[in-house]
Amino acid sequence: MRTRRALLYMPGDNWKMISKSITLGVDSICMDMEDGAAINKKVEARETIAKALRELDFGTSEKLARINSVGSGWEKEDIESVLPFHPDGIVIPKLEDVSQIQWASEIIEAAELKNGWAINSVRILVGVETAKGILNLTEIAGHPRLDAIIFGGEDFAASIGATRTKDAVELLYARQAVITVCAAFDIQPIDIVTINYKDEEALRIEAEFGARLGFSGKQIIHPNQVAVTQEAFTPSAEAVAYAKRIVETFEASQQEGKGAYSLDGKMVDMPLLRNAQKVLARAKVI
Ligand code: COA
Ligand code: MG
Repeated sequence: MRTRRALLYMPGDNWKMISKSITLGVDSICMDMEDGAAINKKVEARETIAKALRELDFGTSEKLARINSVGSGWEKEDIESVLPFHPDGIVIPKLEDVSQIQWASEIIEAAELKNGWAINSVRILVGVETAKGILNLTEIAGHPRLDAIIFGGEDFAASIGATRTKDAVELLYARQAVITVCAAFDIQPIDIVTINYKDEEALRIEAEFGARLGFSGKQIIHPNQVAVTQEAFTPSAEAVAYAKRIVETFEASQQEGKGAYSLDGKMVDMPLLRNAQKVLARAKVI
């Protein structure tokens, strides 16, 4: 699966921002037909995204297109406008039910067959950002074409009637629900947007907290947010060095017949080894 430490949105009708996004070295670029595109710009967004997929070289950045939610009335034309130009993935927002993934998956599979593309080469990422979506997480996460669940904090707060705060305590339950289900199904959990894009320190704190919770990446909305976010979701040199020491010393301790042992005055046993292996695996793919 691709690395998605930062997923940058821009309105799909904004050619200037799309052109800029491909110069930023960001892991994922998400051209938006949903809430980032004004109601009178939906058609222009479809056409501009199709043109970008046709004409621009995205380099190593992933090219994603976000359609309007299933049931909005726009979704079918959204997906049909961009799919012929082979985006790497389709993002479906406000996902509440696995049948909505199946709807998109069937359209995508038909395009893969028709164009001779590899089956499953166009991935699906979903936004879960409503109370119903959180309740249905388990069945949503099991869909085989799904790569990631993106948690939308602002939409979720609106859905449950919560007031957003700086520490986002009102979102903690839902964020951890998303992380847990993603871990169980081996897909990626992607965290909330820091909308205060001029406050780099606030972004750093929120991104590092998200990484500690277990998110694999974060949604962003401005070029200034790329570097801080990608750094926060990259294991630090110290974390990698410590993980290596655990792996090395663990084997020796097993040979001595000890399941638990002491390293730098702290106990190490199997769960710490597993966590260390995760850190190393993550550092390796990045
Ligand atoms: N992607 C790519 N480029 C972007 C960008 C984005 N999301 N946001 C801003 N830029 C570019 C601007 O075009 C400008 O380029 P230039 O220097 O070549 O002129 C540069 O970065 C600086 O932009 P700035 O003036 O600081 O921001 P702004 O006032 O133009 O825009 C926002 C601020 C928040 C309106 C804008 O960042 C935005 O639209 N973000 C995405 C919003 C979105 O998609 N929301 C839906 C999903 S949550
Ligand atoms: Mg949203």
